[in-house]
Amino acid sequence: MLMDVSRYQAWRSRKLSRGTGLPPDPVIRIHNPGSLSARERQSLRESVARAGFAIYALPQDAESRTEACIAERLVSLCRQVGLTDAVSNPAADDDGISRIEAVPATPVAGARDRARYIPYSSQRLNWHTDGYYYPDSRRVRSFALHCVRDAGSGGDNRLLDGEMLYLLLRDHCPRLAAALCHPEAMTIPGDRGAGGSGRATFRGPVFEIDPLTGALYTRYTRRRHHIGWRDDAATREALAFLGELLDSDHPAITRWRLSPGEGLLCNNVLHCRTTFTDREEPGRGRLFYRLRFHQRIDTGEAGW
Ligand SMILES: [Fe+2]
Repeated sequence: MLMDVSRYQAWRSRKLSRGTGLPPDPVIRIHNPGSLSARERQSLRESVARAGFAIYALPQDAESRTEACIAERLVSLCRQVGLTDAVSNPAADDDGISRIEAVPATPVAGARDRARYIPYSSQRLNWHTDGYYYPDSRRVRSFALHCVRDAGSGGDNRLLDGEMLYLLLRDHCPRLAAALCHPEAMTIPGDRGAGGSGRATFRGPVFEIDPLTGALYTRYTRRRHHIGWRDDAATREALAFLGELLDSDHPAITRWRLSPGEGLLCNNVLHCRTTFTDREEPGRGRLFYRLRFHQRIDTGEAGW
């Protein structure tokens, strides 16, 4: 359990007083990504404090047609909400940006082997938080996901704030919330075989107070392979509750399809992606830029 009843109730009241899910009229239009207005920055912060994420739209002008310009604007936008320290990733370019698109299953010689990872395919991507398998030194506290080109069809995201997930689980049953705070609730086996990423075995809780930020940190994956869960009744019951919730139309879950020029900034909320079909013209496939950071987006809110 993360906190006693009275502290939890105070935190819960603060959280719910902001509202649930995205604010009305949620797309925050950014006029100059190189220099946010105070109002734009405040809107981004308020949306992240409320929903765990914010949807923005960058100007779609002549310059924005080049991928280099989009990358520069994205890095600049992130910097202005305090995101400067990118989490290293072998699939990212020098600017820290991972270019997420469906790549052929047999990559050309010399290309990064991205094809073995589902994000770099058109397949459905199940619910997860980013970097749930990373050790604490590489913890992903926030990320930006920007749509350069959308798919011909599909590729929608669903998103759920980890704080709200904890709140719903604890309100349902404190004993189940406590089970997912166990330091060995999840085990991710290492990936050190031939062709593997070299990752060591990871064990950790789903929910914990991040010692660096004092905020709730959530790790989750709904994948069934290459993950072990603590073998007890409360953990199984808690996971069943989460699964049912994630399959539902609960108002805390947002479904959004990013259009070109739009993106989201988030404190590593839970998210998933539907399958998609690319347009047939070469070079017109769905392309998203992703940047992950060690920092959390500062919402000006008190932690736990
Ligand atoms: Fe992700």
